[in-house]
Amino acid sequence: MAYELIDLDRDGRVATVTLNRPKALNALNAPMMAELARALSELEADDGIGCVILTGNEKAFAAGADIKEMVDDQFLDIYKNDRFEANHCAVERFRKPIIAAVSGYALGGGCEIAMMCDFIIASETAKFGQPEINLGVIPGIGGTQRLTRAVGKAKAMDLCLTGRMMDAAEAERAGLVARVVAVDDLMDTARDAAVKIAGHSQPINMILKEVVDAGFELSLREGIRFERRMFQSLFTTEDQKEGMTAFIEKRKPHFKHR
Ligand code: CAA
Repeated sequence: MAYELIDLDRDGRVATVTLNRPKALNALNAPMMAELARALSELEADDGIGCVILTGNEKAFAAGADIKEMVDDQFLDIYKNDRFEANHCAVERFRKPIIAAVSGYALGGGCEIAMMCDFIIASETAKFGQPEINLGVIPGIGGTQRLTRAVGKAKAMDLCLTGRMMDAAEAERAGLVARVVAVDDLMDTARDAAVKIAGHSQPINMILKEVVDAGFELSLREGIRFERRMFQSLFTTEDQKEGMTAFIEKRKPHFKHR
């Protein structure tokens, strides 16, 4: 089935998912979230894809959950709706590496979806914020938790309580964003990173991601123990043998499990 509210492009082992409701600044409505979840499950199952880029357009990555869609909702509408319980979280459940390439507004749910990605590459025009307080609500898909872990309590409280936006330079200083580049370089930079990632062993990328993410749930001791066990388990893989042998033989590795 074709997609209407997102674009899905494949280039070699990299897929790019582009949110595509420009007139609404890519506000995240239920049909778009369902398409995003469907695209990610398609890409998860596709062994030919090793890394995904999630992006928007120059003006907006996404300006948040669709306010017009939810203004009249009651508790049960929101509670039962798949866009919050299942579809919005498709990004956090995605097991392959996924990069957010952000230009323009990443607000509310837009900032939250970007933070569900493994890392964010931003253009100089990017603006991040959790302005839900202005609407009489609070962030609803992880903003209070992920933003606080990314930038610390002081800045997270500042952003959530005032609803102000943070520009790309501040977001990079605060640790929310991995790199900031010129607008025109955004997609090339994201693609270069994605190609590099997709050239590694796919299961080892997935394990790496699982171990880093586990660190947000575990104590330091448990996290280090989990890392050590996973590190040791990699010595059962052909890709570990290939990676290390290629280094010793001074050649590029050809990972079997890509
Ligand atoms: N939901 C629905 N429509 C939205 C939207 C949103 N989150 N953000 C923008 N739009 C729509 C506008 O209504 C407008 O549509 P019309 O032309 O039909 O009026 C169109 O996109 C363009 O927006 P603006 O005219 O407002 O553009 P601007 O350049 O003047 O302002 C902006 C840009 C500052 C981002 C402003 O649009 C804005 O403040 N948007 C809302 C941001 C926000 O509050 N996000 C949080 C949503 S709640 C949430 O996300 C909850 C959660 O955690 C899950």
